[in-house]
Amino acid sequence: MKKILLATDKPFAKEAVQKIRNVVESSGNEFVLLEKYTSKQQLLDAVKNVHAIIIRSDIVDKEVIESASELQIVVRAGAGYDNIDLAAATAKGTVAMNTPGQNSNAVAELALGMMVFAARDFFSGKSGSELKGKTLGIHAYGNVGRNIARIAKGFGMQVNAFDAFVPKEVIEKDDVKAFDSAEELYEACQYISLNIPATADTKKSIDFQLLNKMQKGAVLINTARKEIMNEPDLLKIMAERSDFIYLSDIEPDNKEEFAAKFPGRYFFTPKKSGAQTEEANVNAGIAAAVQIINFFERGDITFQVNK
Ligand code: 3PG
Repeated sequence: MKKILLATDKPFAKEAVQKIRNVVESSGNEFVLLEKYTSKQQLLDAVKNVHAIIIRSDIVDKEVIESASELQIVVRAGAGYDNIDLAAATAKGTVAMNTPGQNSNAVAELALGMMVFAARDFFSGKSGSELKGKTLGIHAYGNVGRNIARIAKGFGMQVNAFDAFVPKEVIEKDDVKAFDSAEELYEACQYISLNIPATADTKKSIDFQLLNKMQKGAVLINTARKEIMNEPDLLKIMAERSDFIYLSDIEPDNKEEFAAKFPGRYFFTPKKSGAQTEEANVNAGIAAAVQIINFFERGDITFQVNK
């Protein structure tokens, strides 16, 4: 019998937790729950005797991995795994996985919701604009990007995309115009949706030079990670272009400066909300539990990210 810990600082919906518990217990394993913890020590204590951990954006660093002496597998119930120290996991022989695609519709719906919110002047009652006919650039074209394209077409937007790793033919199969570079995409669009992961190459990569290429009435939607933004450059573009609007699913580090200088031109969720739906919680949580059981029962490493 393996001990499987669900450790979520930001809890899943109740229904999702119950379903994860059922999957774990019906496979003959033990389910352990740590939610809404307030100190790292609680996580360090909870991981001590467990064989597997399911997390969300919870930080699983070297200290956490080393405290988990029995740990065989950690699964990020979600897409981005920048919160796991992969080198430490590999050094310990621990498999790290994510659950790609399971929460992507939820994130995409939030991105479109933010576009409507911006177009309607933050629901102020003032006359706004419509998304129909507007140019949208999706950067980049993974699971979330594909869902955004599908929904944006329903709004009648002109949908474009750039992805450094996805061939243009793959993007164009979805009837989405593919660009050769981020620069060209930004130049062609009024709305840009950021969907790139936070990696060593992408951190701070969204800078003034790129943002300044956006068309008049620029609306930048960030449902990816705050780390990909060059924050001083973001302040610069907000200051130099009074038409520039920024909405982000999580507050930037310099949010006080936004409040002081750019009222009415930005919106930040207080807590990352893209995947905060019951459906996404159930899908990602169950996928994580099933992946762990398949790993223990059959050695299945399909979604391993530290190969
Ligand atoms: C992800 O990478 O899957 C999303 O950013 C969702 O993150 P969350 O599970 O912390 O809400």
